[in-house]
Amino acid sequence: MTQNKANIAVFVSGGGSNLQALIDAVKTDKLSASISLVVSNQQDAYGLKRAEVEGIPTFVFKSNDYPDIKKASDDLLDRLKEKKINYIALAGYLKLLPKIVVKHFKNRIVNIHPALLPRYGGKGMYGHFVHEAVIANKDTESGVTVHLVDEIYDNGRILEQIKVPVFADDTPDTLAARVLKEEHIIYAKVLDKLIKGKYDLNYE
Ligand code: GRF
Repeated sequence: MTQNKANIAVFVSGGGSNLQALIDAVKTDKLSASISLVVSNQQDAYGLKRAEVEGIPTFVFKSNDYPDIKKASDDLLDRLKEKKINYIALAGYLKLLPKIVVKHFKNRIVNIHPALLPRYGGKGMYGHFVHEAVIANKDTESGVTVHLVDEIYDNGRILEQIKVPVFADDTPDTLAARVLKEEHIIYAKVLDKLIKGKYDLNYE
């Protein structure tokens, strides 16, 4: 029996190594889905190149290019509907999603964050800023969080976390590399579980 696979849209602003990990997980059947669209707010994001190489449709979404936020939000939602998107995975996407998109995809949008939320989250806490803060605080552990997305940065319900050690001689780069390695493993696993209904989403 053939079963329809879930369609995922991945949103990126930069390099897209997590996007690549998701693409690879689909190819190796670790993620039971199709990546049907890659969206970026940055025309030159390397993540868009990765998508093109794989033959995945892309969409550059810049809300400032529209006369108002409603038209921008409606257009994005229409594109997602057109591609029959069931789930959204934010993978280094540095913008908030429009409210109507968050509402439409309630409990079907995930984000990956390179720290143990609720610490080191919120607006401006991304990339090297996160790892610099962890090191400055002399924390002995950091990690990865995958969480559901709501209308506030890094705020939705946490689905999974993985811890990694922080060593005394770590730089933001060495710590980022250790965390990123785990990101590439956990994200596909969490998405696959979410798609297969393995999280109880019936409570707030
Ligand atoms: C990752 O560290 C992710 O946790 C954060 O942004 C970074 C994106 O990296 N949200 P990449 O573009 O997937 O390489």
